[in-house]
Amino acid sequence: MNHSGEDNFNTRYGGTTGEIAVFTDSSRASNLQPPQDQDAPHWQQLGYQHIWMPYCQMQTSPLPLPVVATDEVYLFLADGTRLIDGMASWWTACHGYNHPHILDAMRDQLTKMPHVMFGGINHEPALTLAARLADLAPGNLNRVFFSDSGSVAVEVALKMAVQFWRNRGVEGRHKFVAFQHAYHGDTTGCMSVCDPVNSMHSHFKGFLLEQYSHAVPETANQLKQLESLLAAKQSEIAGVIVEPLVQGAGGMKFHSATALADIRRLCDKFNLLLIADEIATGFGRTGSMFACEQADVVPDIMCVGKSLTAGVLGLAATIATDHVFAAFQSDDPTHALMHGPTFMANPLACAAANASLDLFESEPRLEQVRVIEDALQNQLEPCRTIDQVVDVRVKGAVGVVQVRDLHHIEELRASFVREGVWLRPFGDMIYLTPPLTISPEQLTDLCDAIVRVVRTWSNW
Ligand SMILES: Cc1ncc(COP(=O)(O)O)c(C=O)c1O
Repeated sequence: MNHSGEDNFNTRYGGTTGEIAVFTDSSRASNLQPPQDQDAPHWQQLGYQHIWMPYCQMQTSPLPLPVVATDEVYLFLADGTRLIDGMASWWTACHGYNHPHILDAMRDQLTKMPHVMFGGINHEPALTLAARLADLAPGNLNRVFFSDSGSVAVEVALKMAVQFWRNRGVEGRHKFVAFQHAYHGDTTGCMSVCDPVNSMHSHFKGFLLEQYSHAVPETANQLKQLESLLAAKQSEIAGVIVEPLVQGAGGMKFHSATALADIRRLCDKFNLLLIADEIATGFGRTGSMFACEQADVVPDIMCVGKSLTAGVLGLAATIATDHVFAAFQSDDPTHALMHGPTFMANPLACAAANASLDLFESEPRLEQVRVIEDALQNQLEPCRTIDQVVDVRVKGAVGVVQVRDLHHIEELRASFVREGVWLRPFGDMIYLTPPLTISPEQLTDLCDAIVRVVRTWSNW
């Protein structure tokens, strides 16, 4: 592993702050150098005064890592440091970075037509992709609406569900049931279906639409309570939204296929639409192409994003069943779905997505996920014996080491960088979502780094 320049590097770049602001204890903010380092690349010195970083208290955070190139599972920093990326750029780079098949497809599309509007126009990359997604998605999820980010895909799903009922002449169904620890994105509708208490969006209480939040029904009691809620509020509920099997940014919680199947069953019983947010879990991450498959569940609406383009461009999709789509078919123009992001179905992004699907067909990604799952299980196991660790859990290519309490998060991130890996712990978790193409040796380096750092971390 190349650690060149790391000492100098580490005094400057502690990493960035937590995804979930409420988990970041600013009173223990980093005492690393403030972000005005003269050794930082010129573009960073110049631009950092003008950039606004995500999920970041910019007054106290150290400079972010200056990444200048990516390749396979690596990030390359301005000073030559090479890091193994344990995050796959927020779950997106499923085939690793700069895969030649994806770059070739994009180059080809770039010279033909990088973008064209989608209103009143069709193009081959989008229609091919729509047909392929319909083929791949469970059951009769046959109708694909494209957007440019996961949050927008969820917004579209919520609007779709509300309008589904209106178009059918059913008034008053405009609320959603979502789950504790849910995360569905940062836009207003999405924030309303995130966990209302344990999320960064709790700041916006009073501004957001109020929805029903319930525990994922893992126990008989939770199931009974959920059933009572749905029975009592059925007439005002448009649907139930869930991240199947793995809840991501709201706490990296896992639930059983049985719980997911029970949610589907209750939706059927009370005639509610089920929205599966597969934005993080889709495209192999949990061991099947879509997590819903493991519970034999077909949602009424499914959202995908992130890995859809293998992480090279923003693209997402809201995929509806024939049944949902049928409610929008009418002589009445007001029954149409009134949504249309400017960059929806961007041809370049669709070309990348088609190339990514080629790779799922031609390379053994799901088998690689099984190997990663085994390796994570074995290699994170030693963390269980460490005092501060409260849980170690693995699902597919997702590994989580949950600790009692995490302070000085920037220093912790810097420790990982010293180990030659890029991880971004947040809340009370150190978690891994590596590229699905990571080699056993690279994965061992990542896991060893976690075990070593967690074991020797002196700031618990
Ligand atoms: C489950 C889930 N839904 C929605 C989103 C929002 O996607 P985006 O960041 O592309 O808007 C995310 C992003 O992390 C997610 O994990």
